[in-house]
Amino acid sequence: MKRGHHGRVVLCAFHYNRMMRILELFSGIGGAAAAAKLSNVGEVVASVDINERAATVLRANCSHPVFVREMESLDDKWFEDWHADIWWASPPCQPFTRRGNMRDFNDARAKPFLNLIDRIDRLGPPRIALENVPGFERSQTASRLRQTLANAGYKYQEHLLCPTQIGIPNRRRRYYLVAATGGLECAPAPISPEPRTVSEVLDRHSEDTRWRCDELAVKQETHRKYESAISIVEREDDAAVTSCFTAAYGRSYVRSGSYLRTATGVRRFSPSEVLSFLGFPSSYVWPDEISITAAWRLAGNSLSVPIVANVLASFIEAEQL
Ligand SMILES: C[S@@+](CC[C@H](N)C(=O)[O-])C[C@H]1O[C@@H](n2cnc3c(N)ncnc32)[C@H](O)[C@@H]1O
Repeated sequence: MKRGHHGRVVLCAFHYNRMMRILELFSGIGGAAAAAKLSNVGEVVASVDINERAATVLRANCSHPVFVREMESLDDKWFEDWHADIWWASPPCQPFTRRGNMRDFNDARAKPFLNLIDRIDRLGPPRIALENVPGFERSQTASRLRQTLANAGYKYQEHLLCPTQIGIPNRRRRYYLVAATGGLECAPAPISPEPRTVSEVLDRHSEDTRWRCDELAVKQETHRKYESAISIVEREDDAAVTSCFTAAYGRSYVRSGSYLRTATGVRRFSPSEVLSFLGFPSSYVWPDEISITAAWRLAGNSLSVPIVANVLASFIEAEQL
């Protein structure tokens, strides 16, 4: 761990003589691609996701190929031909959530995940990193994954990590697994970039004209109705921590993310501000054809970039030992 002035944990600059090739599976808008850049561990060589809109956003922000495909429809050769050092995967989490009835591998939405486990068994990629919701670790799918990894001779570690642990003012506790046929660092290396306060998030978007004020505003009667059930933060509160932004933000008022108190009322955070809480670079763009509701949904499905950068760093630190 490295600490900067004021005792803050700062981004470790890794000096590694070879950039690892990363295959980004269930890529969404490319949170892992952004994390790979932040960590310096490697670069994403290809991304794949079934969602056309997510691919549109990712293509606007990266130069590597982005495939819109159902993962199960790709043959083994497709995977092998990328000669990837790391397979990154963020499979759908609904089968492991209460909202999704926790049907585990009996849920049809677990099919691509189970397909991935079989693929790992057959092809044995050198390193695997994976993200899911807390609770996944108690599922039968997780048991199957562990069994597959152990039988194939992988060493693996599991972590529950939240961006608040590295000073980011946003909750997003998630399950992470790293597995490798070689060594592994005992814990993800701490990386803590900005933003560290709500005002830092907002300052990064002072020129943001992509979203209209009326799209962000919360009607007074709605605010009054849900006031006791929602989290409202203030710009001036440096200790404020926002709640997890989910794919329902903008559609459902409660348990979908925090709101901002302004001089004139209460408003939602814009999709760009949500990305900022997730640690995406401020250069990240939303293409014009992506509506605000679609942008909120895509951002809410994404991940904490600095946390994933930490997770990916587990590989490199181990190889430097
Ligand atoms: C939890 S999200 C991952 C989001 C991503 N990590 C990001 O940074 O935006 C799960 C993703 O899996 C995709 N997905 C679901 N079923 C799929 C399938 N059968 N094949 C490929 N992608 C699939 C969804 O479209 C969604 O983008």
